[in-house]
Amino acid sequence: MQIPTGILADRLGPRKLLSGGAFIATVGSIVFATAHSEIVAGFGRLLVGGSVAVAFVGMLKGGQIMTHLFEPLSLRGVTLPNRIAVSPMCQYSSDNGFANDWHLVHLGSRAAGGAGLVLTEATAVTPQGRISSRDLGIWSDSHIEPLSRIVRFIDQQGSVAGIQLAHAGRKASVAPPWANRAGSLADSEGGWPIVAPASVVFDDGYALPEALSIEGIDNIVEAFVQGARRACLAGFRIAEIHAAHGYLLHQFLSPLSNQRSDRYGGTFENRTRLLRDIVSAVRGVWPEHLPLFVRISATDWSDGGWDLEQSLALASQLQLLGTDLLDCSSGGNLPHAVIPVGTGYQTAFAERIRRETGIKTGTVGVISAPAQADHIIRSGQADLVLLGRELLRDPYWPLRAARELGHPAPWPAQYVRAAPAHSPAHLPETAYCILGRQMG
Ligand SMILES: Cc1cc2nc3c(=O)[nH]c(=O)nc-3n(C[C@H](O)[C@H](O)[C@H](O)COP(=O)(O)O)c2cc1C
Repeated sequence: MQIPTGILADRLGPRKLLSGGAFIATVGSIVFATAHSEIVAGFGRLLVGGSVAVAFVGMLKGGQIMTHLFEPLSLRGVTLPNRIAVSPMCQYSSDNGFANDWHLVHLGSRAAGGAGLVLTEATAVTPQGRISSRDLGIWSDSHIEPLSRIVRFIDQQGSVAGIQLAHAGRKASVAPPWANRAGSLADSEGGWPIVAPASVVFDDGYALPEALSIEGIDNIVEAFVQGARRACLAGFRIAEIHAAHGYLLHQFLSPLSNQRSDRYGGTFENRTRLLRDIVSAVRGVWPEHLPLFVRISATDWSDGGWDLEQSLALASQLQLLGTDLLDCSSGGNLPHAVIPVGTGYQTAFAERIRRETGIKTGTVGVISAPAQADHIIRSGQADLVLLGRELLRDPYWPLRAARELGHPAPWPAQYVRAAPAHSPAHLPETAYCILGRQMG
């Protein structure tokens, strides 16, 4: 459907967007048309009968094609508009697990900043599984509504909302980092009893965890299932199971923290059983058309611990169980492991797992330069680049990266007067109503 240039120009401010007509297509398809000597690309997402419409109109000068970082990524029925994801980052800003205005602004501004996927922080599936009492949670139906407000906003920016489902195990019951209080909290400080695969303490100053009973393990599986069910009701389109960084599921994977002698400990098969059970059970309630991610620590960085060879074997199994992407991080299970932190230091894990098992991978860790991120995708090291601290420094990093890489990424229409010339725009919901009338 052709839209008169004037209507778009009115909606998007005084800049003259197109010298000829522009095309708008429905439901995420892309339409190419020619105007003068330039190729005009227009694509739109129009949820007819729904409350959201996002329209994009862009130009690709002289037929220049997209950078790899800005290629869409389709996983089952979901298409991420680009390969940039907000890595899960605890905000220590909830009361009783509830999402609030901080989470809306924090996650929402990164969606407005152009990230294709916005993942929540570790969201606890039980109150006991919180790292701190200020963590986000999803252990009750009353958590759904405030989360759905955030999901709606992220969707309206053309981004995809994902949730990281988590249980902290023996690393639960600590204070937020700015409290300057390391180790487990005492009861008198608001701490609570912690659980783990075995009664093995994490570090000095941490409480001795109680080894989970079989019934306790069954309850954990069920808590992940219920968390996924609620996440779906909240509208999230991606769920990520947190099995990294020394939290409960990683504690089961690693022989250094899992000293059980029953069917959940000992052999590789036994140590991976809980994660495999959770992935299977979550996949059972998580809709078929929605992707499921798992975050792992590819190595403990310690002899005798979890390592890349085991991660490779696990990756193949998780893929068969319906995992769509393995988010490859490392470390976190041992307080004193020596980790060679540096630019892209974890990328080799994602690359090897991707190459040898065929599962899609995400990479994370000290990635900050747009060319570096683009190269990761271009050279097949990973399918998705997750950024943590760089996106805390600059929520608009994706827009900056697009500019540096010469890609015409869509800007929020509200900001388009500050955008590079010929930038496409996400029209706000209100503009859709007007546009819709004009189009009708
Ligand atoms: C403030 C902060 C909170 C974090 N919280 C989480 C979390 O909830 N879940 C998780 O898997 N990783 C968490 N991480 C780790 C990041 O997701 C990421 O893996 C790590 O920061 C490395 O990426 P970066 O170098 O781009 O920051 C957190 C990191 C930061 C800085």
